Amino acid sequence: MKRRGQRIVVLTAYDYLFARLVDEVGVDVVLVGDSLGQVVLGYDSTIPVTLDEMIHHARAVRRGVKRALMVVDLPFLTFQVSPEETVRNAGRLMKETGAEAVKLEGGDEEAARHVRALVRAGIPVMGHLGLTPQSVHALGGYRVQGRGDEAAARLRDDARRLQDAGCFSLVLELLPAALGAAVSRDLEIPTIGIGAGPGTDGQVLVLPDMLGLNEGFQPKFLRRFADLAGATRAAVAEYAEAVRGGAFPDAQHSFE
Ligand code: KIV
Repeated sequence: MKRRGQRIVVLTAYDYLFARLVDEVGVDVVLVGDSLGQVVLGYDSTIPVTLDEMIHHARAVRRGVKRALMVVDLPFLTFQVSPEETVRNAGRLMKETGAEAVKLEGGDEEAARHVRALVRAGIPVMGHLGLTPQSVHALGGYRVQGRGDEAAARLRDDARRLQDAGCFSLVLELLPAALGAAVSRDLEIPTIGIGAGPGTDGQVLVLPDMLGLNEGFQPKFLRRFADLAGATRAAVAEYAEAVRGGAFPDAQHSFE
């Protein structure tokens, strides 16, 4: 798709029903992200998310995704300890969920060692650079990365290292638009941006964020394509009024 100049559409999903809808519309990649922690499980960050939680949700997503490529995140500390443990944990994700690929964060030489071990084991890997949420405390918060010549050069080096290690694609999160475009030009593999400007080869958003379900969250890069929080609240209020007023259930919704 990158070679053909076709932009790649990626969305996250965490359950069967939304995965089915997203897949039916024809997105290219469904990512079971560890953003699961915040948008489904109510954690403060992605750090508490466990491998078992990822597997539980990814199995549900698998039942809904028939045609898109399905990628599952390796959560915090399931890939940082040793390449052997990384392969074992990614192997569980692949065997128990039916995913076609895994994603992991980071691009230093150590991360590349883990990517190489996975690729050697036959597991396709999507990388993730820029704001890597599992390192939020080390990065000092959720802020734009790669500002300044030195940081930008480091990020471009990391991106090339991940490509050389065998990643088939790379998420770029929260980068200045010019850097997102430069990395995308540097690489043969496609880049998927989130808050990284229009110059990446594809785009990903967190589904509940773009559907307007996650009301408190409004970073600059996020465009809401619907107001499902408002629609849900209105529907629930209408239902409550119908039940309390005796208008539901009526004859039409009752059995003889
Ligand atoms: O966890 C996630 O949903 C992600 C995307 C934001 C890329 O990593």
